[in-house]
Amino acid sequence: MPGHATERDRHLDSILYSMIGNMTVPVSGEKLAQDLGISHSRVARLINKLRGEGVEILGEPFSGFRLTRLPDVLIPELVIERLHTKTMGRNLFHLWEVDSTNAFAGGLLSSDDSVGHGTTVVAERQTSGRGRRGRHWFSDSFVGLYVSIVLKPDVSANLAPLLTLGAALAAHDSIERTTGLQVDIKWPNDLLVGRKKVCGILSEMHAELDQVRSMVVGVGINVNHSEMPEELREIGSSLRLESGRPHSRIEILVDFLTAFEKIYDRFVSKGPVSITEPWTELSSFAHGRKVKVHDGVRQIEGTTEGLNALGALRIRQDDGRVEEVYSGDVVHWE
Ligand code: BTN
Repeated sequence: MPGHATERDRHLDSILYSMIGNMTVPVSGEKLAQDLGISHSRVARLINKLRGEGVEILGEPFSGFRLTRLPDVLIPELVIERLHTKTMGRNLFHLWEVDSTNAFAGGLLSSDDSVGHGTTVVAERQTSGRGRRGRHWFSDSFVGLYVSIVLKPDVSANLAPLLTLGAALAAHDSIERTTGLQVDIKWPNDLLVGRKKVCGILSEMHAELDQVRSMVVGVGINVNHSEMPEELREIGSSLRLESGRPHSRIEILVDFLTAFEKIYDRFVSKGPVSITEPWTELSSFAHGRKVKVHDGVRQIEGTTEGLNALGALRIRQDDGRVEEVYSGDVVHWE
């Protein structure tokens, strides 16, 4: 069952879904009001809100409303119709605007202990998208995928980063499958096309006595940006800019949730190696790469030598010592 942040989000989705099902015939304001159990004037206000969001709708309440352009909105009904997962995305919250989907998912968890594994929050835009290390994640309307998934893994806290690497694997495979682009994974979980970042992942964990109680895995994918903001142009890009054509966010979302569920299930049955092995195969950063990594305190420089069992990056320094880095940013690479 789709969930919503507010009743207004649910109404906006229902009106759009109803018009998508009637692209050639106008839907009367009366029918919309009846179906939603709201007044005519409320319908008119919601239609105006949709127009303000850039949805092209012809008509007036008495003549009926008709969509003239099918917008790429992540309407839960459209996602659910295509999704065949057991848990991931089955309880789907669709928000037109939110500060951060990770914050929203965290709020769900703290207000309701029964929020289930796989509960997913997607938003059309974020006003305070969170990046790693306190950075901001640029989250313009309708062009990106802003997704947070609640996980309830029965594992110790030191295994949790592997699930973030698992999300990177899933995003890697989905982007390659749906766009045909060649994607690289920069440790730990940035996805690059060429040398530019198209996807980032931020996981937030709630653990007790070293056991994970819940995790929110937040994934941001730059899908259809036709240009990146000036300050990101050197380091970031979108799938559209790299492939020269737009892509369906719904298709990528459904593929990603499906892939992530498989990777998660394999992790539960086969353990860490089910993630570290494919990650090592897919990432050009895994072996023999000269890197500088900043772990928040110091900079480690050397040549990469794979991952350890917990997903830490092994770096052989010039003096021959191998350092295992558990968290950080690759700040320079050749
Ligand atoms: C990074 O810095 O690379 C991580 C970026 C993660 C962005 C995503 S967008 C969906 C989710 N909600 C957030 O506020 N952040 C993550």
